[in-house]
Amino acid sequence: MGNYADEINRRRTFAIISHPDAGKTTLTEKFLLYGGAINLAGSVKGKATARHAVSDWMAIEKERGISVTSSVLQFEYDGFCINILDTPGHQDFSEDTYRTLMAADSAVMVIDASKGVEAQTRKLFKVCVMRKIPIFTFINKMDRDANDTFELLDDIEKELGIATCPVNWPIGSGKAFKGVYDRETKSVVTYSDTEKGTKEGHATVIPVSEQDMLLSYIGDEAKEKLTDEIDLLDGASAEFDLQKVRAGELTPVFFGSALTNFGVEIFLKHFLKMTTAPLPRKADVGLIDPVENEFSAFVFKIQANMNKAHRDRIAFMRICSGKYDSAMEVKHVQGAKVMKLSQPQQIMADERKILTEAYAGDIIGVFDPGVFSIGDTLCMPKEQFTYEGIPTFAPEHFARVRQVDTMKRKQFIKGITQIAQEGAIQIFQEFNTGMEEIIVGVVGVLQFDVLKYRLENEYNVEIRLENLPYEYIRWIENKDIDPDKLTGTSDMKKIKDLKGDPLLLFINQWSIGMTLERNEGLVLSEFGKN
Ligand code: G4P
Repeated sequence: MGNYADEINRRRTFAIISHPDAGKTTLTEKFLLYGGAINLAGSVKGKATARHAVSDWMAIEKERGISVTSSVLQFEYDGFCINILDTPGHQDFSEDTYRTLMAADSAVMVIDASKGVEAQTRKLFKVCVMRKIPIFTFINKMDRDANDTFELLDDIEKELGIATCPVNWPIGSGKAFKGVYDRETKSVVTYSDTEKGTKEGHATVIPVSEQDMLLSYIGDEAKEKLTDEIDLLDGASAEFDLQKVRAGELTPVFFGSALTNFGVEIFLKHFLKMTTAPLPRKADVGLIDPVENEFSAFVFKIQANMNKAHRDRIAFMRICSGKYDSAMEVKHVQGAKVMKLSQPQQIMADERKILTEAYAGDIIGVFDPGVFSIGDTLCMPKEQFTYEGIPTFAPEHFARVRQVDTMKRKQFIKGITQIAQEGAIQIFQEFNTGMEEIIVGVVGVLQFDVLKYRLENEYNVEIRLENLPYEYIRWIENKDIDPDKLTGTSDMKKIKDLKGDPLLLFINQWSIGMTLERNEGLVLSEFGKN
């Protein structure tokens, strides 16, 4: 065991997920405030500016007013070293978000109390379930009129299929919001919006046994409702079970208001008690233990041109075991090369901090000269193993790409290949021809614009995109089937990926069914492997 066990065990790495506008940014800023990572002046007020600073690298994002990038924030709180993986909110960039979730040990789900579970949360949630990531729910905006509390919980249970266990319970909402009842201590933490933008701490805590005091704070009606609701809750809700929480089967639920800074620290404290230190990860040689094993990491995200001042590509990796030290040499398994990682850094807004050391649980960004791909493993030179790949999501939109100036073939191929390595797009070729015809597949149509913009701005190549009508892609699993001999439907298209594996494009589900029917034994899969 290394002498760095303590450092690793105090790490907590989680992603924040939400539907856009539920309050993810606001909540993250409040967390940072507790950690002292940013001061008050730079927090709430600086939000719009901070957002732009992070994403300035891509003007397209500004034009559309959405967040396409994501960053990693680290702060210290109560002896813990916390890594927050911020995820882009826009659905067109959800694939990036999915990958970010692969690097987290747990997820915080922010829900708008007046909206309940929304589309984006539902999608992200499926990934958490797939990976059995523990989920902690923060129901936000209680200072505004909220849906009925039981209905909110019901919504989570029905929509997401996970049991809920409220840790605290709101008393009213909107103008009538009085605070939360803490089920463990059986006391009420009172709300006051005068704490807006400051650290909480002035809230009054009233044990429910102090009936008169409670009555004078929350009033007769609210007190009666609370008593009824607690009775109901104690009888009906799932029992708290830490094992189930950690297995991703039960989500602890908290209520608060990130904007007015109510309930945030309560949440943070409970969350840190319930979540785990970095967990072992699956590799092809078995589980790699964060403490017992020496340095290893995997790349979960690649981002180009994060900042105009640095025209570079950054590979984000999650350290899965051991300690990283910037002087050491590591092996890039897929590239079969031993190298030093250059300029290891942590990225916060537009600031970059060069690191000299980091531990399992941490995320580092390193300069990528174009060698890394999503899912790649790094380990000690004497070792040889690879972490489980990150699934690629089936693209749902396809277009044929043509370069306007055919003389720029080289730049075009370089540009489109690099952008594909980053995972923003997937590229394919016609089945029986060479690279002449390139077909691009994306999960969200906005990525077509990003591709066009980036090829023009970063590689000086102008392209035309011709949309194709296909919506479904399937990999052929059988190795013994000759794609040339397949009898498909007239609207089916045969293509291949960069590894030369054959694929089929379909316009509708019906064609997929027909093709399976016409070719006995054919096995089609929705996911490619990287
Ligand atoms: P996101 O990252 O999930 O997209 O959400 P973000 O934090 O940007 O919050 C979206 C909007 O909701 C912001 O208002 C924010 O101030 C507001 N908000 C966040 N938490 C709360 C809360 O607890 N109560 C209330 N009442 N509002 C909250 P905005 O008008 O879009 O932006 P801004 O002008 O405030 O920056």
